[in-house]
Amino acid sequence: MTLLYFMSMQGLVRSTITVNVASQSTWVNYGDNYTANCNIPGLDALEISQLRVEWFHNGQRLTSQCLLLSAEIKQKYSCITVTPEWNNISLLLTVKNIQKSDAGNLTCEVYERFTENETVVRNELVGVKSVPIQIRGNLKFKCTNACAIVNKKRHMIMCEVYDTGGISCNTILWKRGDTGENYSPGSYNNINVTCKEVTNSTIETTLGIQQVTAEYFKTSFSVIYNGPLSRTIEYHLSIPEEYSNPAAAVQPFLALIYSIILAAILLKIQ
Ligand SMILES: *[C@@H]1O[C@H](CO)[C@@H](O)[C@H](O)[C@H]1NC(C)=O
Ligand SMILES: *[C@@H]1O[C@H](CO)[C@@H](O)[C@H](O)[C@H]1NC(C)=O
Ligand SMILES: *[C@@H]1O[C@H](CO)[C@@H](O)[C@H](O)[C@H]1NC(C)=O
Ligand SMILES: *[C@@H]1O[C@H](CO)[C@@H](O)[C@H](O)[C@H]1NC(C)=O
Ligand SMILES: *[C@@H]1O[C@H](CO)[C@@H](O)[C@H](O)[C@H]1NC(C)=O
Ligand SMILES: *[C@@H]1O[C@H](CO)[C@@H](O)[C@H](O)[C@H]1NC(C)=O
Repeated sequence: MTLLYFMSMQGLVRSTITVNVASQSTWVNYGDNYTANCNIPGLDALEISQLRVEWFHNGQRLTSQCLLLSAEIKQKYSCITVTPEWNNISLLLTVKNIQKSDAGNLTCEVYERFTENETVVRNELVGVKSVPIQIRGNLKFKCTNACAIVNKKRHMIMCEVYDTGGISCNTILWKRGDTGENYSPGSYNNINVTCKEVTNSTIETTLGIQQVTAEYFKTSFSVIYNGPLSRTIEYHLSIPEEYSNPAAAVQPFLALIYSIILAAILLKIQ
């Protein structure tokens, strides 16, 4: 809560204006509506008549009081004024059908109008408050990562990354745990990374290792998603090693033979 002091032209009366801007939650699901409340409590009747409130979204002016400024703005936003008590005013602004591009801030600016001879001579900013809009994408990683064998064969990890808030390939990186190296799509020493936008909410990315060596089993690989509003999510993977030691496969068979021999010896002893 910020208290702002201003001087009124009529006799320089000191007054205080409190502006509260809040929403039920700053996080919103893709496709939902987001409502923020600009609340100005405790004003007297004269102050109320002198007040001008404006809503902004990421710097774009949307309203004068609760009046939406254009037909285009009306499609995307709605505004209602509520006054639970005569001296407690709230302007509720709703952003409809939240999309990725709606992330950012809603700002309420409160001005005092100074009039002379019934014409406004100036507006003085007496309060500004913002609330963030953060879009809660429904993020999913779905990866296929088969076992690998140390050999000359190429190993592939394929991940599908899904975000209902929208996703594109430039938000995806791969990272190698041991060296910390980052891979955006392209070719590197022994590693290839690809990325393909399947839909506007799904991408498919692959990490290919040209030649698997033992060191690859000791390190982790991550798919890093850099979402809106600096939200970073890391999905860790490690390559499972497949043991292809022929002796391991033979052992159960040998054990069976040994037990048959042992059984035969025991029978002979009897
Ligand atoms: C969002 O608001 C619009 C119009 O006010 C309404 O028709 C729609 O059902 C609301 N959507 C949700 C998800 O509440
Ligand atoms: C003003 O009204 C809001 C509801 O819109 C309420 O939450 C708030 O407590 C009220 N403030 C005062 C000072 O009465
Ligand atoms: C929203 O406000 C925050 C904090 O003031 C700022 O860092 C950020 O850049 C703003 N976002 C947009 C889209 O204007
Ligand atoms: C207000 O209007 C009156 C007459 O219309 C004029 O005499 C006066 O100078 C005006 N005052 C100011 C501050 O403009
Ligand atoms: C994604 O595409 C669908 C149609 O395929 C469209 O309705 C939707 O608005 C798009 N969403 C984004 C965030 O671009
Ligand atoms: C991976 O990169 C190598 C060069 O490092 C290139 O020869 C090969 O075609 C690439 N493979 C894919 C699937 O992009």
